[in-house]
Amino acid sequence: MEIKVTTGDISQIQADAVIVYFGEGTESPDGAAAVLDKALDGAISRLIRQGEIKGKLNEITLIHSLGKLPADRVVVVGLGKPAALTAPKIRGAVAEACRYLRKKGVASIATVAGGAGLNGISLEAASQAATEGARLGLYTFRKHKTKANDNGGEIRQYLIVGEAKDIDALEAGSRKGSILAEATNLARDMVNEPANLMTPTDVAKTADKVAKLHRLEINVFEEKEMKEMGMGGLLGVARGSRQAPKFAVLRYRGGDPGEKPVALIGKGITFDSGGISIKPSDKMEEMKGDMAGGAAVIGAISAIAQLKPNINVLAIIPATENLPDGNALKPGDVLTALGGKTIEIISTDAEGRVILADALGYAIKEGARYMVDVATLTGACVVALGKICTGAFSNNQEIADRLITASQEAGEMTWQMPMFDEYDELNKSEVADIKNVGGRWGGAITAAKFLAEFAGDTPWVHLDIAGTSLSDKESGHLVKGASGAPVMTLVNFVLALAEK
Ligand code: BES
Ligand code: MN
Ligand code: ZN
Repeated sequence: MEIKVTTGDISQIQADAVIVYFGEGTESPDGAAAVLDKALDGAISRLIRQGEIKGKLNEITLIHSLGKLPADRVVVVGLGKPAALTAPKIRGAVAEACRYLRKKGVASIATVAGGAGLNGISLEAASQAATEGARLGLYTFRKHKTKANDNGGEIRQYLIVGEAKDIDALEAGSRKGSILAEATNLARDMVNEPANLMTPTDVAKTADKVAKLHRLEINVFEEKEMKEMGMGGLLGVARGSRQAPKFAVLRYRGGDPGEKPVALIGKGITFDSGGISIKPSDKMEEMKGDMAGGAAVIGAISAIAQLKPNINVLAIIPATENLPDGNALKPGDVLTALGGKTIEIISTDAEGRVILADALGYAIKEGARYMVDVATLTGACVVALGKICTGAFSNNQEIADRLITASQEAGEMTWQMPMFDEYDELNKSEVADIKNVGGRWGGAITAAKFLAEFAGDTPWVHLDIAGTSLSDKESGHLVKGASGAPVMTLVNFVLALAEK
């Protein structure tokens, strides 16, 4: 889909459909809605008076223009109460309207930066939201479908129309929105891809493509180097798989050469069967998405490379399958992670934390200033928070606050979970330094506590995305399947750090 920012009169624009906006509790249309209302002989204000258009968030009203405009259809989309409006709400409403029009067979859409000026939302932010809404809301994963789409066609062109004096701001916002949305969609593609086509080698290849495209440095470590570095966790989990494990490191250098990097670390389990502690088969296919953290980190650094903040960033993706095999890791086995700490394996299904132990150790060795890890880590986090928000766990409140602020701006909800010392003893092992399961209760927290042992004193946030990496349904900017979360959060977090 081509997205263009242009000047012009919204009532004269050549497109199949036009989207305009209306806030709840307003008496009459304003801005672009007012211009179209006039061209439509008052049709919009009449519907407002009659109560059909209320302006409730995501409300969609279709008006056929019947020759009064070049565009055959006008959609008035509700933004809810202006005083409660946010950029993520605009994005969600735009996404709903775009999908609605796609079902009608529309191929081109024109709109404006709706919501700009309301509740402190800048033109730039509104244009970014309008762009993200279209790119994220219209996302599909049809690679493996051999037949054409039956739910309407494809939107080929999307115009954001504005006044000449606003073009620079609109373009800047739209560019940023496209970069963030495309990075999110890249992560979605990786997560939606079946595990036979997104092996650890494929993850590394994707990382390599991103690096070549955006001129990032990349290293992909193989088994031999993992052994040399002492990555006993990753190598241990990989023993059950015929696929070669990979440890990918991408490097963005936008800061001073001496400045310590921010490390983004993503769990890259390309399929999690549970290993010898095998999972029940119901819904096991969803475990092709157990590399969503790794995908998010690759997406995030691809956006960072394009937005070019003044900061150094490392993206680290340990990747392997978790499968049962005669040679596989067994409950009771003891592994030594990078850095020397020993881990007793209680369940081979608690594999994410085991590979992340090595990745955290690697980031510390690289001199990371801050570390953020992203992982589909525990079913317990889904039980605690549902699929609405990501769980955040941290050893440093300042960095946790920064991460949560970044997630609010991104419209990717995040909720901080406790890290009381009292949880520590649950991970104590009789035979090793730590065990990889802390019991049934508080499972998301004991998993985070396990990681905290390997994060040491480095300020660190762990994001458990087990619930948020997949969406059950279309909703706002989300479509069914991979969400691509928390790519935009990570990027906002890094951009804000670079401003500091
Ligand atoms: N990848 C899973 C966690 C998961 C569960 C992700 C549901 C997405 C949806 C993780 O590796 C896992 O299996 N965790 C176990 C840990 C347990 C054995 C302590 C879990 O949550 O059951
Ligand atoms: Mn598992
Ligand atoms: Zn897993």
